Amino acid sequence: MEFDLSTGLLSVPTSKLTIDEYPPEVSDIHSNRVYFSLVIPTFKERDNIENIVKILSELLDNFIPDNYELIVVDDDSPDRTWEVAQSLLPDYPQLRVMRRQQERGLSSAVIRGWQVARGDVLGVIDGDLQHPPEVLTQLLEKVQQGADLAVASRHVDGGGVSSWSVVRRFLSRGAQVLGLIILPGVLGRVSDPMSGYFMVKRSAIANVTLNPVGYKILLEVIGRGMVREIGEVGYVFRERTEGESKVTWKQYVDYIRHLLRLRLTTGRVAKFRQKVNFPLGRFLRFGLVGLSGVFVDMAVFYLLSDPATLALPLTPSKFIAGEVAVFNNFLWNDAWTFADVSINQRGWRKRLKRFLKFNVICLAGLVLNIIVLNLVVNFLIPNPYIANLIAIAVTTIWNFWVNLKLSWRVTDVK
Ligand code: GDD
Ligand code: MN
Repeated sequence: MEFDLSTGLLSVPTSKLTIDEYPPEVSDIHSNRVYFSLVIPTFKERDNIENIVKILSELLDNFIPDNYELIVVDDDSPDRTWEVAQSLLPDYPQLRVMRRQQERGLSSAVIRGWQVARGDVLGVIDGDLQHPPEVLTQLLEKVQQGADLAVASRHVDGGGVSSWSVVRRFLSRGAQVLGLIILPGVLGRVSDPMSGYFMVKRSAIANVTLNPVGYKILLEVIGRGMVREIGEVGYVFRERTEGESKVTWKQYVDYIRHLLRLRLTTGRVAKFRQKVNFPLGRFLRFGLVGLSGVFVDMAVFYLLSDPATLALPLTPSKFIAGEVAVFNNFLWNDAWTFADVSINQRGWRKRLKRFLKFNVICLAGLVLNIIVLNLVVNFLIPNPYIANLIAIAVTTIWNFWVNLKLSWRVTDVK
């Protein structure tokens, strides 16, 4: 059931973020297919929503009457944008409204909207009127001329920004350059990879699982979709008149995470990783936890052994410090590094068992550390610090690998 009769609102899909090859079987009053589905993601756009729905409807009623739909996807805005949109339903037969209460975020909002879309062409436009609606017809023409993806761009003829400060222009271009370095194959294909105003053929993104973080859904579409031809249309990014931007420093962090994730999971890198099959993400988490353990070890060691504090003898101090660090590492690894595994092995007894195995392996790791250290110092590199680094690296890989196979056994039988 994708439609709630009592509220008139769309139900939120709960499946993974994949677009089907064909529109969903529609069971609501909007039972016909359309050519174009335009998603309007909103968060706190109460003062814009009526205006944009009105302008878009007039425009598209002229251009492709009855052959489009507008899908507002609101993330349960505290200003009740969804309610305003809901109140417009009787006047705009092409309008549909989704209120998301469980999930958050611009990119996933767009995908959820596309999942209920009935069109062959799927588009997105900001809900604050910063994207000039007139450009839609030119974008649609690009698609009709054969483009799989049509992007509204600030950086081609006819494009630009209205009155941005030097700092903002610099940040925007800086983000683009960084993206070009990390992901040239994706960002190099369009002049404005940051654009949130574009449309794509359903067939170009069907059946791939989209996995975006944050704001920049276009990267995901180009990075994972099967986009051959791309068309671009210039537009001027307008100033906001109502409401405010939701961009914070978090969007910049998300953007970098998104770039790295795409880098690691698409193209040649993904193929290589598939072949080698090394759980890199897990290993990095394990390493980070290990690093936290170093600090725990140092702190406890200081508290126990320092003449200014407890002044305990060296060996017992080191032993207790090491054990506390092992305990610290275990807790983090169990809750984070191997969370997906431990969640299927609940209960205190099982957890204790994992802890004991972890402990034994770490102890063996310590022995290994000492052996490697001695071997390296005596036969390879006399510098004890470099040798210790090598020993730590070897031990970390050992600890990780054996714990992966033993303490948190991923290949557990059903
Ligand atoms: N559903 C939902 N959930 N909508 C959101 C969310 C969210 O978490 N965050 C923002 N939005 C909606 C806003 O209500 C607005 O309609 C649109 O997404 C863009 O958000 P702004 O906060 O206005 O972003 P901007 O003005 O900085 O625009 C930048 O990002 C856009 C989106 O990628 C520019 O780079 C634009 O070119 C780009 O289109
Ligand atoms: Mn905006």
